[in-house]
Amino acid sequence: MASHLDQKNPSGSPLPNGYTLLSYSPDDVILGRRRREPCTPKRFFKALLMAGGAFFVLSTLAHGTFFCAKRWSVHSVIPNHWDENPIPDDVALSHCASSDDWEVEDRVTDFDWKLRFPYQSTTHFDIPLAPDTLWFVTKGISSVGSLNIVTSPDQPKDKITYYVTAHYYKEEVRDLADVCIITKKDNENQEGVGIFTSRHGEPRRRRENRLSFETTIVFPESDDGSALLIKDFVADTFITRIQTSSLAEKIIFKNISLQGYLAPIKFSLRAVEGTISTSNAPIEGYFNTTGNLELITRNANIKVDIVATSVKNGSEPKVILETVNAPIEGSFHLVSAEGANGTFHVTAKTRNSPLKVKFEDAPADAILVFNAETANSPAEVALHPTFEGSFLAETSTFFQAKVLYDQDEEDPIGKERQRQVLFEGKNNGQTKQGYVFWGDQEKEKLKGRVTVKTSLSPVELQL
Ligand SMILES: *[C@@H]1O[C@H](CO)[C@@H](O)[C@H](O)[C@H]1NC(C)=O
Ligand SMILES: *[C@@H]1O[C@H](CO)[C@@H](O)[C@H](O)[C@H]1NC(C)=O
Ligand SMILES: *[C@@H]1O[C@H](CO)[C@@H](O)[C@H](O)[C@H]1NC(C)=O
Ligand SMILES: *[C@@H]1O[C@H](CO)[C@@H](O)[C@H](O)[C@H]1NC(C)=O
Repeated sequence: MASHLDQKNPSGSPLPNGYTLLSYSPDDVILGRRRREPCTPKRFFKALLMAGGAFFVLSTLAHGTFFCAKRWSVHSVIPNHWDENPIPDDVALSHCASSDDWEVEDRVTDFDWKLRFPYQSTTHFDIPLAPDTLWFVTKGISSVGSLNIVTSPDQPKDKITYYVTAHYYKEEVRDLADVCIITKKDNENQEGVGIFTSRHGEPRRRRENRLSFETTIVFPESDDGSALLIKDFVADTFITRIQTSSLAEKIIFKNISLQGYLAPIKFSLRAVEGTISTSNAPIEGYFNTTGNLELITRNANIKVDIVATSVKNGSEPKVILETVNAPIEGSFHLVSAEGANGTFHVTAKTRNSPLKVKFEDAPADAILVFNAETANSPAEVALHPTFEGSFLAETSTFFQAKVLYDQDEEDPIGKERQRQVLFEGKNNGQTKQGYVFWGDQEKEKLKGRVTVKTSLSPVELQL
């Protein structure tokens, strides 16, 4: 495989020789509009939900069998992805794979079999580790596929490699996609690889026009087993499943952002900051953060194991978990580095589905501010016995709020202090509130605060 960094396009155009920018015929536009009317996005999403989320989308896209057949199309609900030009304004293409850069492979993998693409070929791009932000972008209606992020001891220390495997019926169609090294126009320190596909005309009308891309990004590993420090990484993808290997042990990112659409994200990461979002597909994994972390989806569950570390005085990790119409299941480990009295802000929010959050560990001098909220489904929160502060568990009339605690709980710092649990304020069947703390303290001065709310279902808070 050739190294793409060494190749320059002699014409100076951002597109390689032999490429022309196709524009859309008016036909395409009319087609999009005609298909839009009878089957609404709302109906689609309902059906999507029942059918089990994004895997279904992936397989239906691949097989071309749609409910709302003939009437619904992806671009009717996602007009932005049916643009004439899928390449975002801030993206500059620097080198694009030409047909010579693709190495045709035998068709053997599972993925290949499931999607029934007869051909696949691979190319790769090296990006030095120098840029401040490493980037991966997929845009366009045919940019369906997957992204794997892994490390390898064999990877040269000064660069990362993007391996892109295209699955297709016709080489000409593959070569219409722009698979390119990209930089950000207003920031040359943001560099990576982009896959842009929507200028194919109507992609599913003809099966041969379909494409799928599997990308694997390989990071190096340090020789001494310590974690490698990487600045920022941004993946901004269309229907692309995102998955990482156990990166938490190998890499510390300064800031990582994984954005998906209609496809699940699975991860094991360690970063100062993180943003992971998708929709109609689950978010699942392990994250060790020392700063802000946001995990956001819709209509699909969040299942995460989170370590939030407060590294110095004044460091306040903030974690947000948010979905709707699907359960949240979270397990938290709060850690204060030596000398740091950590303050932790955690929010978990869904609707119409159960919420279950457990704090497995928390240091004695930490301050936890936690808001948990769902509606029409049970909420269940278990704090660590070190928690001190005010609490509130609330649901609607006729449903029960419970606060559970062990009266003989031992002092977590071994000083034989007694735990006080005081119910104060309005307390009845549906509302329980008060304070919990160790030893003698002025309860008004406690900064910790936990609220757990739902409606039309029971709520349970374990102190
Ligand atoms: C981290 O990355 C996200 C997404 O690119 C960005 O919105 C955010 O501002 C970044 N945070 C920091 C501290 O740079
Ligand atoms: C989480 O990250 C912090 C800081 O990067 C590190 O000190 C700690 O060992 C990590 N914790 C786990 C459980 O990996
Ligand atoms: C944190 O603050 C406390 C009290 O002000 C101080 O004793 C300690 O050294 C500080 N720790 C760090 C890591 O700055
Ligand atoms: C940190 O926590 C310890 C133990 O609760 C306390 O004595 C100390 O005053 C706290 N320091 C700060 C800066 O809040």
